[in-house]
Amino acid sequence: MGHQGGIPWHIPEDFKHFQRTTLGHPVVMGHATWRSLPRRPLKGRRNIVLSRTVTGLDGAEVFGTLDAALSALGDQNVFLIGGGQVYREALARRLVDRVVLSRVKGTHPGDTLFPMSEADYLSDRRLVAEYERFQVWEFDRPTGVEISPENETISSTDTVTTHG
Ligand SMILES: NC(=O)c1ccc[n+]([C@@H]2O[C@H](COP(=O)([O-])OP(=O)(O)OC[C@H]3O[C@@H](n4cnc5c(N)ncnc54)[C@H](OP(=O)(O)O)[C@@H]3O)[C@@H](O)[C@H]2O)c1
Repeated sequence: MGHQGGIPWHIPEDFKHFQRTTLGHPVVMGHATWRSLPRRPLKGRRNIVLSRTVTGLDGAEVFGTLDAALSALGDQNVFLIGGGQVYREALARRLVDRVVLSRVKGTHPGDTLFPMSEADYLSDRRLVAEYERFQVWEFDRPTGVEISPENETISSTDTVTTHG
């Protein structure tokens, strides 16, 4: 889902899908994902950035832990938008109600992988949209990430755009 600090593909339809899905909702992201945004903050959304090294950023609210961010947001639909570190913590701690995953066709380079196991991919899921270059899948109540060598082989063609 990531390569050299960016996204390994450029698919405008996927950006539009991401925009439609998250617009009007708070988005929580890691500091590296914030730095990777071509235009920031993401407009029409409350931008929340997690960092242990900075306390303030132009256009974003910064929190030192995921728990602090989530408790400040209260009871609303929150989208965790990456990157790998944030997805890994949220899935491992079972904080995620739903994963909205764009499965990109083709082979792409990747140094940051989405941390769900192949078993998760094969379990309860539904195909919600089909585009020329990607499909959108949803998973409810994902069972969490297992940190194992097996996970290291997840195809780098898989990414999540949003989950909340
Ligand atoms: N394909 C997609 O849809 C998609 C979506 C998002 C991102 N990406 C890609 O993923 C890559 C970035 O992912 P990444 O895993 O390297 O980094 P990341 O999760 O975006 O950010 C990591 C940084 O966030 C901060 N952080 C993370 N968890 C924290 C916590 N619990 N409490 C406080 N701070 C926390 C730390 O910042 P400090 O170092 O400041 O402490 C950490 O170094 C990029 O290549 C990006 O383009 C892809």
